[in-house]
Amino acid sequence: MNKEQLMESARNMKGKAYAPYSKFPVGVALLLKDGTVIHGVNVENVSLGATNCAERTAIFTAITNGYKKGDFQAIAVAGDTVDFLPPCSICRQVLAEFCLPDMPVYLTNEKREILALTLQDLLPYAFTDLEM
Ligand code: THU
Repeated sequence: MNKEQLMESARNMKGKAYAPYSKFPVGVALLLKDGTVIHGVNVENVSLGATNCAERTAIFTAITNGYKKGDFQAIAVAGDTVDFLPPCSICRQVLAEFCLPDMPVYLTNEKREILALTLQDLLPYAFTDLEM
């Protein structure tokens, strides 16, 4: 699956987002190295801090399905924003827990352009499992 197809898959998920408070739907498609695609949407809550972003929904679903650190090939994030929509900082930290620094992260914008970054680009000097 190429990045355009993965992004289309992320876009198609937006309709499933539960975002009644922000009205900001986000869809994610997470490609596994075995070719499986796992999706995620943001799931909000009236207690706003209980909201879960689409990226974390996808990662947590993958872990629930038995995937492990190193099994992740790429992630595509889609919203309705004019500019490229990047994962929030909490999601970047969660991605860093399970994904390698060179994993591609695909962002998109209103013009449906795709910006290909890596996790390392988004989270340099990540706090990981440092030796002591
Ligand atoms: N959100 C995501 O799901 N992913 C992002 O990359 C950025 C923000 C959600 C959280 C909240 O439901 C809404 O978008 C507005 O912040």
